Amino acid sequence: MNKKKNSVHPSRRGFMKSTASAAAGFMIVPRHVLGGKGFIAPSDKLNIACIGAGGKGWSDIRNAYADGENNVVAICDIDTKLAKNAMEKWPKAKFYKDFRIMLSEMKDEIDAVTISGPDHMHGVAAMSAMREGMHVYVQKPLTHNIYEARQLTEGARKHKVVSQMGNQGASNPAQQQLVDWYNAGEIGTVNEVHVWTNRPVWPQGIPFPSEKPEMPTHLNKEDWDLFIGPAEYMDYHPLFHPFKWRGWWNFGTGALGDMGCHLIDSPFRILELGYPTEVECSVGQVFTRDWVPEFIPEGCPPSASVQLKFGATEKNPSDIKFNWSDGGIRPFHPDLIPADHFIGEEGSGNGVIMIGDKGVMSCGTYGRVPRLYKKGQEMVEMPDDYEAGIPYQDKPESGHQYAWTKACKEGFGSKAHQSLTSSFDYSGPMTETVLMGNLAIRSYALAKEGESGRRDFFGRKKLIWDGDNMKVTNFEEANQFVGRPYRDGWKLI
Ligand SMILES: NC(=O)c1ccc[n+]([C@@H]2O[C@H](COP(=O)([O-])OP(=O)(O)OC[C@H]3O[C@@H](n4cnc5c(N)ncnc54)[C@H](O)[C@@H]3O)[C@@H](O)[C@H]2O)c1
Repeated sequence: MNKKKNSVHPSRRGFMKSTASAAAGFMIVPRHVLGGKGFIAPSDKLNIACIGAGGKGWSDIRNAYADGENNVVAICDIDTKLAKNAMEKWPKAKFYKDFRIMLSEMKDEIDAVTISGPDHMHGVAAMSAMREGMHVYVQKPLTHNIYEARQLTEGARKHKVVSQMGNQGASNPAQQQLVDWYNAGEIGTVNEVHVWTNRPVWPQGIPFPSEKPEMPTHLNKEDWDLFIGPAEYMDYHPLFHPFKWRGWWNFGTGALGDMGCHLIDSPFRILELGYPTEVECSVGQVFTRDWVPEFIPEGCPPSASVQLKFGATEKNPSDIKFNWSDGGIRPFHPDLIPADHFIGEEGSGNGVIMIGDKGVMSCGTYGRVPRLYKKGQEMVEMPDDYEAGIPYQDKPESGHQYAWTKACKEGFGSKAHQSLTSSFDYSGPMTETVLMGNLAIRSYALAKEGESGRRDFFGRKKLIWDGDNMKVTNFEEANQFVGRPYRDGWKLI
């Protein structure tokens, strides 16, 4: 394989360079003769590590391993039970619980890392790997907050690494079909977008747990401290680990963080959106007694409705009102969608509707079930033989992880890198848009004691956003949610 600059770790690059020149002197037999069809030379394999091997991490690392096309050299997880499958599949891989130690001890061996832990550790883990020159595949949402997303976007360029966010729908041909319809002028200029999800589907909007249950016997204090990582320390609770961390701001990013990057992806890509200019929201309340809503600033709300505004662009010469709703609240059928059609995807639980001056396009999660509606015309669907030109469709998850491994081998700036569907140049700003909704939701919960003991919610306003400078310009208190402080021992940059 023709290894290009920054395709593998510098020290391995050095090794391969010298072996390559030595081999050149003795070149006798072509590689395919040595290995036959399908033979992969050891030097053609990436050395991959994973951070987070349970949950989504299990499929991320398997898909990057690609049935042995690459090596899994290290596994990092704070929970040996959840990492069991990976440890059994790759018994020779070194096991770590602390990714900082793994990245430092194995910096000369690891080429690329999949990062699939809870949202609060994505930023710090990814930046630590990129600093060592390692390529990164980071689950969605790219980060826990806007500041981290901006830093990772710039970090990938600075460290010249190949990056991809784990919104696998980006590699789904259905998304490209929507792009093609829009580019062909089928729906004209868009001024209204609706995106919605049935998330949360985990405990959310519930009071912060006050009891302190015992940790499961396979976890210890040090494991838990590593789970907390850069976040504020909180005692163990099964409402945090595994999976349920999503509903708590200290770790997760709520319904928006869970589904926003899968759903907002389609309109963001099609309309080539940049930073929003305004955001406003309202959130669902919870009542366990009469008249007094629960006040749960630690937790994401059970439902929310957010409106972002985007200015006109060369691609779409109209301002856009971009509406998000979650918690099972969905928009209504636009006039052009027949009354008995589902909206978004089957069951209408998740979806996207883009309303233009000539027509309407809709789709579900990952851009699936793309549909085009125009006045007086039959609904159009994606033809079975539609060719999106996105490679590796025979691989799992539309080849999203696989394409990243191929690009890592080709190196930073290569054609394969440039054709990735969610490298940080794209997914960083998209994630910022998703997290802008959360910034508004968190501001909405800002409260102080008012007169006669009532809470005064002083953040319930429309927020004006200066995207270039990452700053809310009309409400200083909201800016505390742009980034976050880090615990001692953990740093982003
Ligand atoms: N793209 C998708 O379709 C998709 C689907 C599910 C989850 N996700 C994303 O994947 C990420 C993980 O979600 P999940 O549902 O798998 O969560 P999970 O809690 O089920 O699994 C997370 C794994 O990471 C491990 N972990 C936690 N902290 C760690 C640390 N500091 N270092 C190393 N390992 C650590 C856990 O022990 C566990 O094995 C999230 O960002 C989520 O949004 C993406």
